[in-house]
Amino acid sequence: MPLRIDILTTFPELFDPALPGGVLNASIPARARAAGLVDWHATNLRNFTNGRHQKTDDRPFGGGPGMVMMCQPVYDAVLAVEASDPRPATRILLTPQGRLLDQRLAEDLATKPRLLLIAGHYEGLDERVVDKLAPLEVSIGDYVLSGGELGAMVLMDAVIRLLPGALGHEESAAQDSFSVAQSYSGHPQTPRRDRIVVPPSTRLLDCPHYTQPREWMGMAVPDVLLSGDHGAIERWRLEQRLARTRERRPDLLPPSGEMAGR
Ligand code: 6GU
Repeated sequence: MPLRIDILTTFPELFDPALPGGVLNASIPARARAAGLVDWHATNLRNFTNGRHQKTDDRPFGGGPGMVMMCQPVYDAVLAVEASDPRPATRILLTPQGRLLDQRLAEDLATKPRLLLIAGHYEGLDERVVDKLAPLEVSIGDYVLSGGELGAMVLMDAVIRLLPGALGHEESAAQDSFSVAQSYSGHPQTPRRDRIVVPPSTRLLDCPHYTQPREWMGMAVPDVLLSGDHGAIERWRLEQRLARTRERRPDLLPPSGEMAGR
């Protein structure tokens, strides 16, 4: 069964698989969809409004700027969309107040049968419908977007590329930035000083990559990559990942001491 993703939004056309040039219709998500690994459907929240004016929002009680999305259209849409498929959906509300999206969360969501993404707008949703639906609240970073749609697309891309078969080359996701790093232990005769021990579940940035030509503007490709020594290459890549992470994102590394000597 493909992973099913429903998106509730007032801008369903942004997710239309027939939209030429749509973000999700390029590259990996589109191929994963064509391969039957994932399917997504956007539902217009306006279809669940009661009044003639198809209003999904109203002014905030207590005053202040902006508009608040009303409970009833959101609630009715969630229940109707969920009823269209018997598989239980993981409800996710895209909001700057949410838990920060990271690779670990993307990996977890990629194991679910079904996701239901609610893209809020304006000043957000009436808190009562959030309480009632109890979605997982997810943010894509510490800045404010005009709506949850871009957050939903970012989450979809991060999850879809992790589905088995989506990348075509299964090793690739294991090498990515933020993937859990494997220690380098070499072969049985590799001396202890040449091994690299990475504490379990450490996530590292990616290593640098090079392709043809071997020299460009006087800059050569590192020799080790041309050596044909797969052990040496694996070790070099892990060293590079560690060095970059130490330099750029020390917050990803365990407290110093656990990685003594590296
Ligand atoms: Cl998911 N939505 C909105 N509106 N703003 C955000 C966000 C999401 N993540 C960070 N900022």
